[in-house]
Amino acid sequence: MRRAIHTFREVQPLRTFRKELQASQRTVGFVPTMGALHEGHISLMRQAAAENTDVFVSIYVNPTQFGVNEDLDSYPKTWQEDMDKIQALNKELRARDGSGSITAIFAPITKVMYPTLPPTSEITGPGSFVTITPLGSLLEGASRPVFFRGVATVCMKLFNIVMPERVYFGQKDVQQTVVIKRMVKDFHLDTEVKIGPTEREADGLAMSSRNVYLGARRREVGVVLSRALKAAEKKYLQGKRLRADILWPANEVSTSKMMEQDDLPPSKRARVEVDYISMADPDTMEEIEVVDASKGAILSGAIKM
Ligand code: PAJ
Repeated sequence: MRRAIHTFREVQPLRTFRKELQASQRTVGFVPTMGALHEGHISLMRQAAAENTDVFVSIYVNPTQFGVNEDLDSYPKTWQEDMDKIQALNKELRARDGSGSITAIFAPITKVMYPTLPPTSEITGPGSFVTITPLGSLLEGASRPVFFRGVATVCMKLFNIVMPERVYFGQKDVQQTVVIKRMVKDFHLDTEVKIGPTEREADGLAMSSRNVYLGARRREVGVVLSRALKAAEKKYLQGKRLRADILWPANEVSTSKMMEQDDLPPSKRARVEVDYISMADPDTMEEIEVVDASKGAILSGAIKM
């Protein structure tokens, strides 16, 4: 069946549309995004369409998850290309029997998402926020203190607006998936959290809307992260369970890649610093010394350039 894509900028019309779907026994899978769509986003939409009759996508650059010195103003905006990619996906999905499709885009402005929040409250001021502690202050949250509060808050709002049967998040932002799962559990949200695999460039770099910021040299050094994590995973797959045995090759890989730049004059080198390489409990993101194989562990890392 060919169906049009509806774009909503306000809450009420989207709710009306959603209730009509509910009345006709249709199911909604929801993919929240900040736009500048790439294959990572599209693969989540594809998965959502395989498991639901209707897929809702939000495109909203959420100010409360950006720190003061972060890229809120320069975050890439590619509305027309995003729409073209979604149309192309729908075309692909239409050829598939029994598949759902993308039927709604929610693209609100900040006044709609944060009706009572004064502009200065984005970072530290008063307002209604969702905080998940200590999970939101570990790892990524240690260098970006407002990040997970902003993510949890906007997702709580979006889930309350869309009321999806299922929500889709990417493994690439693994701590975000843990935060969202915890929020859904602790607040008894009536939705199921589904995680899609990380889509990567040919050399292993995870796809990201922010990769456009990387110049050639940094782009080249960036692959060190996926290589380091793969090296650690390999140790686990070979039967290692202790932190030191699993993480040393990851640290080794990251330092060696940085040394490869030694032949360049200092002004030409990408300045790189390992922020963390972590082996953590999959529910709490707390560092662990030994992996319990029945539970597994999350290997993640960040480098600063
Ligand atoms: P954004 O970075 O646009 O990502 C939207 C979704 O796409 C997230 O679930 C993210 O994990 C997933 N994603 C991004 N790159 C991916 C890749 N290479 N492979 C697989 N999935 C990938 O994450 C956010 O936006 C925001 O924090 C948001 C959840 C929308 C809240 O504002």
